[in-house]
Amino acid sequence: MMSGKNIYIEELISDEQIQLGIALLNRQYEQRLSKATMTVSSIRDNRIRFFGCFTDNKLTAVFGLTLHNCASEINYSHLFNHLEFENGQVATIGQFAAINRINVKTLYGVLFDTAQRLGLETLYGILTKNETFYIHYLAATIHKRNCDVDVGTEVPVTAFSMQCRELAPRTQSFLRRSPVRVFEQHNSMLKIHSSDKHTSDSAWGSYQRAFSQVVTSVQQQLYREIADQLNDQVMDSGCGPAHLLKFIENKSIEYHGIDQSPLMVAGAKATIAELGFVNANAQLGFSEQLYCNGKGFKTICSINSLYAAAHPIEQLKHLANQLAVGGTLWLANPNPNMNMTKMTELLKSEAQYWGAHPLFDDFCQHNLRLVNTYQKNFYATGLLSEWCKSVGLRLTSCSEAKFKGAVSLIKAVKEI
Ligand SMILES: C[S@@+](CC[C@H](N)C(=O)[O-])C[C@H]1O[C@@H](n2cnc3c(N)ncnc32)[C@H](O)[C@@H]1O
Repeated sequence: MMSGKNIYIEELISDEQIQLGIALLNRQYEQRLSKATMTVSSIRDNRIRFFGCFTDNKLTAVFGLTLHNCASEINYSHLFNHLEFENGQVATIGQFAAINRINVKTLYGVLFDTAQRLGLETLYGILTKNETFYIHYLAATIHKRNCDVDVGTEVPVTAFSMQCRELAPRTQSFLRRSPVRVFEQHNSMLKIHSSDKHTSDSAWGSYQRAFSQVVTSVQQQLYREIADQLNDQVMDSGCGPAHLLKFIENKSIEYHGIDQSPLMVAGAKATIAELGFVNANAQLGFSEQLYCNGKGFKTICSINSLYAAAHPIEQLKHLANQLAVGGTLWLANPNPNMNMTKMTELLKSEAQYWGAHPLFDDFCQHNLRLVNTYQKNFYATGLLSEWCKSVGLRLTSCSEAKFKGAVSLIKAVKEI
């Protein structure tokens, strides 16, 4: 069970998901904008990309973005006296509603992050309240007040816009980001993952059974080294069956595992229950879509899962964003020394401990297949270090001695 701390963001695509979002909107709009009703078809017909933020699988916020390629497409374009429209795409923000289980900073952080991932330049919108908040914290430019547009009820409306590539310093704090070059615009043209990827067992499900039972000596050494240095709060990105917990003695540690494979998550939940951890949870999803609903995680572990990411720098960047200032990232990933020969050698030496296990053969075959599939993503230690630095982390240790030289382990700290 999630402790209710974190937020998972997803694009609402199916009719059912959109209905859920509309129900949240209507609940809030009823009080102030009773005639502003939305339907699944109005969302679709107006080409609104509708995003939902979930806490404990419960929808806690929604926002819609309508992407525009030219100024004349902007809703209420006559209200905006200067349309900064030369450099790229913009969007109108709308259908915004939230309930109080989501932290305001996190919500706006998710909004700007989404805008940056979509490669948007400017967000235009109209608002009926909270103008001071938008001006003060989000550096909003006010275009026109007391606009004569019908938003479903007679309330004064203000037209505003916000920059979403070059964020003002105050707005940056909503993203919990270090102001380093990787966050500049050329690197922000990233796809939102939810629309083109779905959590699945296709890649990892078949591996789960053997992987959850066989834990090789080289894995054990790695988990132990990391576990010994963990204290009160951990986010485990691509947690698998949560093996790491087997090496943590403090049963009340706060642990948030996330994995995109339903079977792995089931395994992680079983591990949590079996070992009796009381503040631990595992959830299904992509690490890139999980947001810390607060100051940021104190520790994030990414153990042998970055190589499976379709957009590794993007994932690393997101993980760095979710760290609190002073927080630590543990990153382990196979390096180019990991190849078929090395894996065969490693498995051979494990046979003395695991050879009699009924799933050991299966474990060996899966591992050899993994090497074959992902070898191109076994990044050099130097490259991983550069990536860490480029997302604003300072390396405090770096080794390539794990798995007999085939896995690199980096410990890095977020300083600002
Ligand atoms: C080799 S397993 C490692 C599991 C665990 N970290 C460990 O060391 O025991 C890699 C895991 O990463 C997960 N994974 C891959 N890409 C992911 C993503 N983008 N978000 C969340 N999980 C992901 C896979 O489903 C798989 O369970």
